[in-house]
Amino acid sequence: MRQEESYEDGAVKGFIFSSLFWLVIGLVVGLLIAAQLFAPALNLLPWLTYGRLRPVHTNGLAFGFAVTAIIGVSYYVVQRLARAPLVFPGLARASLWLMNITVALGAASLFMGFTSSKEYAELEWPIDILVVVVWVMFAVNMVATLIKRREEQMYISLWYLLATVVVVALLYIVNNLAIPVSWFKSYSAYAGANDANVQWWYGHNAVASLFTFPILAFFYYFLPKSTNLPIYSHRLSIIAFWSLVFGYMWTGAHHLVYTPIPDWIQTMAIALSIFLIAPSWGSVINGYYTMQGSWATVQSNYLVKFFLWGITFYGLQTIQGPTQAIRWISQFVHYTDYIPGHVHMGTMGWVTMIISASFYYLVPKLYNTSLYSIKLANNHFWLVLVGQLIFSITMWITGLQQGAMLTATNEDGSLRYSFLETLVHNYPYWMMRFAGGIIYFAGIVIFVYNLAKTTANRGGREAAA
Ligand code: HEM
Ligand code: HEM
Repeated sequence: MRQEESYEDGAVKGFIFSSLFWLVIGLVVGLLIAAQLFAPALNLLPWLTYGRLRPVHTNGLAFGFAVTAIIGVSYYVVQRLARAPLVFPGLARASLWLMNITVALGAASLFMGFTSSKEYAELEWPIDILVVVVWVMFAVNMVATLIKRREEQMYISLWYLLATVVVVALLYIVNNLAIPVSWFKSYSAYAGANDANVQWWYGHNAVASLFTFPILAFFYYFLPKSTNLPIYSHRLSIIAFWSLVFGYMWTGAHHLVYTPIPDWIQTMAIALSIFLIAPSWGSVINGYYTMQGSWATVQSNYLVKFFLWGITFYGLQTIQGPTQAIRWISQFVHYTDYIPGHVHMGTMGWVTMIISASFYYLVPKLYNTSLYSIKLANNHFWLVLVGQLIFSITMWITGLQQGAMLTATNEDGSLRYSFLETLVHNYPYWMMRFAGGIIYFAGIVIFVYNLAKTTANRGGREAAA
């Protein structure tokens, strides 16, 4: 008990609620761009055009929602697994403020149209420097706490968090190296095909180190915590960890199939993408086997639903991803909406499900109370599940249709359809995606409301069934 009291959890609370704030903003922007695709009149002002809002959506959710959640939950997890308080609690609180300032400035700069034009690395150099400072503050605290740890064994979650700290720093700094020409404009330090290669090495490893490593860390920590079941195999988790970290580093060029990047780099990326199925499924199997004999808890414990569906979507995502890397499939689905379908199964089905379950576990604990309403948490679950499925499935269907249209030829070998014609066929599916997005968003609103009411409820009222 005394040890719990010495942990620094103030910053953790701040990170959780900041992350929820950016989640709502990012999703509102996501809904707006989803609507703009079938109702272009909604591009009302230069600030609100699709081209500016799309990176606000992606950066807002990747940095504002995901990175903020990752830092906050990591601070909680590292203290418990190291059995030591954060070495620099003041630094953790300062990083919370700087994180929010950085995300706000980043969003404002994208609204104003400043961009380096590299996907997921759009922020201009002054904001990049702020991102690096926040990350260094986080890294210093994490590493120092691990050095001072009182628990000798490094549980699997710590390995994943350490990989997150190291890999994100490496990627972000290398890919964002640029020559500034003014406060708001810089040019990449790399040129042509090299630039593309570095960019997609960054792009896919950003997916790995933000949307995979820390989320697996939380899965491995909070699933046993919320079920009282030990993880099935520590050895399997460690083998999967090292092969996942090794494999991801070489796969970036699967985004650049049939481009001027040397063929051997593409082939290596494709081969290692397929290799990744094994370590990814190592974690999926570990999760399923942990629940062996206790599947009935899915009905009695609302958190288990989030964890099991989350890891299932991770499993599906890590089969779909490698298949997309194969040349003839890439040729068909690249440049189509099939890819946003893949992206949102991962982000809405895996990343946000696991982060939501982690927050549900943490918030009542941090405020020394019980969850305001389990019924609302169940409603949240079903709404995000249905919303996400509508989103992903409609995008897969329209993506395949688009791929077929883009590759269809007439007898003389000329293209049968123009690009514009393929877009017109997307309209009904874009409308359905918007409907799916609204359903998903309703679930998120309930989630935020439930957590806010939980904090107001401090003092320990029992959760309603
Ligand atoms: C209400 C829910 C959501 C809606 C309506 C929505 C909408 C959209 C739309 C319309 C796009 C552009 C697709 C295109 O370029 O054709 C997009 C892209 C993207 N969104 Fe979302 N989104 C939602 C949730 C999320 C969440 C929760 C995340 C992350 C945590 C996310 C991350 C991304 C990413 C990374 C892309 C870029 C995809 C790519 O380049 O293929 N979205 N989203
Ligand atoms: C074994 C693991 C995975 C492999 C091999 C893989 C493979 C791929 C491939 C080949 C593409 C490019 C498609 C194209 O543009 O032609 C892609 C796109 C993408 N994947 Fe995955 N994927 C994996 C897991 C994941 C996971 C877990 C997420 C988490 C959300 C994710 C998020 C994304 C995103 C955001 C993009 C869009 C990038 C862009 O803007 O173009 N992937 N993936």
